[in-house]
Amino acid sequence: MSTNPPLLITGATGTLGQAFQLQCHIRGLEAVLLDHTALDIADKASVANALAEHKPWAIVNAAGYVRVDEAETDYDRCYRENTTGPRLLAEACAARGVQLLTFSSDLVFDGGKTTPYLESDLARPLNVYGRSKLLAEQAVLARLPRALVVRTSAFFNPCDEYNFVSQVLTAARNGDDFPAADDVFVSPTYVPDLVNAALDLLLDEACGIWHLTSQGTYSWAELGRLALRLAGLDEACIVPRPAASFGWAARRPRYSALGSEHGALLPSVESSLLRYLAAEQQLQADSSQAVLVG
Ligand SMILES: NC(=O)c1ccc[n+]([C@@H]2O[C@H](COP(=O)([O-])OP(=O)(O)OC[C@H]3O[C@@H](n4cnc5c(N)ncnc54)[C@H](OP(=O)(O)O)[C@@H]3O)[C@@H](O)[C@H]2O)c1
Repeated sequence: MSTNPPLLITGATGTLGQAFQLQCHIRGLEAVLLDHTALDIADKASVANALAEHKPWAIVNAAGYVRVDEAETDYDRCYRENTTGPRLLAEACAARGVQLLTFSSDLVFDGGKTTPYLESDLARPLNVYGRSKLLAEQAVLARLPRALVVRTSAFFNPCDEYNFVSQVLTAARNGDDFPAADDVFVSPTYVPDLVNAALDLLLDEACGIWHLTSQGTYSWAELGRLALRLAGLDEACIVPRPAASFGWAARRPRYSALGSEHGALLPSVESSLLRYLAAEQQLQADSSQAVLVG
């Protein structure tokens, strides 16, 4: 058994937590991945116990509440997981000299800009989820100024069947239409690239707020059409619609693309989609092989 202090990753069952586990494995970084039964980030005693048991050099907080529309009514839970949790982690890390990486969102912005939001732009959230994230940023950096807070957005990842790109591809392959907003603009983010860049920053002891997204600004409809074009599928299955027609409970900024004063650390959305499609094919080949062998 290794005696090196590990990286402690929260949110074992989530998209980001799993992606961190995979990239740590690929990069040979010692990591312990805990689900909410082993570490409830919003429970002070649970946080203290996990730190005492695993003695990590850093915590990656990949846990959180991401259901933006449900948060409008489920706000106690949203604030517990998105604000109280990161605050308790920051307090515990400050007391023990442990580094912390935690994640925030493009939804801290109100959408009034028409060029990508930078780290120094004024954050003014329109919904409960965005407010829970902004409060977390402030609480974490007040308690642990050397914490690394990464704002990111609109994940796509071949290992997660619920993200927008996966759902568009599945709909097209099934011959179904896919309605997508054509008046909401975001910076899509390829999760493996996000995780690699965030790990580099953590290892370099970067701190403060950093915007990390794949390069490019797309409406959801444009992103869907690009993914289909690159996959050789029929773009016509995308049905462009105004955001207002979806009846979302939470208000959303019409424009929340992120840029960075630190420079562009991730590749373009288009090149990431090509790698996404290659990784998807590899996963399918691996699972067919497993069925044959099994
Ligand atoms: N998805 C996106 O497009 C996106 C965009 C911008 C920012 N982010 C941020 O990225 C982070 C991860 O997002 P994700 O998409 O990976 O979310 P996800 O797939 O929904 O995973 C969230 C994880 O958090 C865990 N969790 C919830 N409450 C917890 C608690 N009290 N203690 C410990 N674990 C808890 C969940 O565990 P259980 O399921 O077992 O409760 C789950 O494993 C979040 O901070 C999110 O705000 C995501």
